[in-house]
Amino acid sequence: MRLVLVGPPGAGKGTQAEFIAERFSIPKISTGDIFRANVSGGTELGKLAKSYMDAGDLVPDKVTVAMVRDRLGEPDAAAGFLLDGFPRNVAQAYELDSALGDLGSSLDVVVELEVDSEEVVRRLSGRRMCRKCGHIWHVDYEPTDAEGVCDLCGGDLFQRDDDKAETVRHRLDVYAEQTAPLIKFYDQRGQLVVVDALGTVEDVTERAITALTKVT
Ligand code: AP5
Ligand code: ZN
Repeated sequence: MRLVLVGPPGAGKGTQAEFIAERFSIPKISTGDIFRANVSGGTELGKLAKSYMDAGDLVPDKVTVAMVRDRLGEPDAAAGFLLDGFPRNVAQAYELDSALGDLGSSLDVVVELEVDSEEVVRRLSGRRMCRKCGHIWHVDYEPTDAEGVCDLCGGDLFQRDDDKAETVRHRLDVYAEQTAPLIKFYDQRGQLVVVDALGTVEDVTERAITALTKVT
């Protein structure tokens, strides 16, 4: 299955991507994770991406598209993939079509995680990520046994730089202006599945998997 997960910052894309990808045995490709790995690795790509990410703006399409094209060309993505955080505007959606066309394939389905902005702010303000394994926690909703320590691998937890209230507000504006038009774009193509992303993590996973099982 070739699928895209779309939704506002904090909708739970990263959280659900882990479970959905595992359920369908496909690799999870998260542009945010790839950028963050490059930032912590101090690469040229990371240096370039950091200023945009810290401001809550999109990294330029040229850079992002080249990175995704490379990743989609890797052998593990040949039989399917889950894209988390890409495409993020209509230009990137056309680039994805073109990249997949070059590989002789096409997109199957786009899942929109639907959630209101108050919940998004609650989710982002309490988010903590594991520095070692990347697992996503929440101080209230998905707490760890010991504060600041990952239950899965014992790694340190950290708060993302772009989860500051002011940056979150800007990321939501960027989403509304640039990413939300994608919903209509994919709906008109008959590729959109909307999933209610309120409720527990398990409830949302269940809804997404049920919806995907029906369309694939
Ligand atoms: P990215 O990392 O993609 O950030 P985002 O889209 O803003 O999404 P988030 O990661 O903030 O949220 P999420 O939906 O994954 O929520 P999560 O599962 O963590 O991108 C970061 C930056 O990189 C961008 O701003 C941009 O600069 C750049 N970038 C990335 N892709 C790009 C592209 N294509 N083009 C250009 N630039 C790009 O959940 C949030 C919290 O809620 C967690 O704490 C979680 O535990 C909790 N939670 C999740 N589900 C539930 C639930 N059901 N109930 C209660 N709590 C829950
Ligand atoms: Zn961990």
